[in-house]
Amino acid sequence: MLTLESNSPEETENIGSEFAKKLPDRPVIIALYGDLAAGKTTFVRGFARAFNLASDVTSPTFCLLNEYEGEKNLYHFDLYRICDWYGLLSTGFFDLVGTETMIIEWSENICEYLPREAIKVKLEKDFSSENKRIITISDYN
Ligand SMILES: Nc1ncnc2c1ncn2[C@@H]1O[C@H](COP(=O)(O)OP(=O)(O)OP(=O)(O)O)[C@@H](O)[C@H]1O
Ligand SMILES: [Mg+2]
Repeated sequence: MLTLESNSPEETENIGSEFAKKLPDRPVIIALYGDLAAGKTTFVRGFARAFNLASDVTSPTFCLLNEYEGEKNLYHFDLYRICDWYGLLSTGFFDLVGTETMIIEWSENICEYLPREAIKVKLEKDFSSENKRIITISDYN
């Protein structure tokens, strides 16, 4: 387990980018945990940058899935409104597992259906300072 501290959105983006660069060269599932405005989408923005998928990573609030196409594709889920297996099934989630790299906001909502190999990244606000976040990354191979 790795615990990091971020003190700005830029730092969170950089942590996302550095994390992405260290991943094995195969499809992986990244399960993000953290409350509203914890910095999940910010982390994804940096992550996508490392994939050379530059610009418009947005919080897919009204959209459950954003697909960014590049050398390697990235599937960005926001499961804020999903709370059961049928809802998750309807997003196409299970069709992508094992073949695509997926990064998932609000993993809390579907934790029982997450593949065991998912890498967990938790982002937490730290109330000692408005811009501080604690980012914890689970072990993976
Ligand atoms: N250290 C930090 N890391 C990330 N974001 C920060 C940090 N400090 C302040 N912020 C602010 O917190 C907000 C994080 O927004 P972001 O969309 O990334 O959160 P989120 O976890 O995706 O939220 P949601 O659950 O609504 O999707 C932004 O407004 C950003 O400017
Ligand atoms: Mg978000």
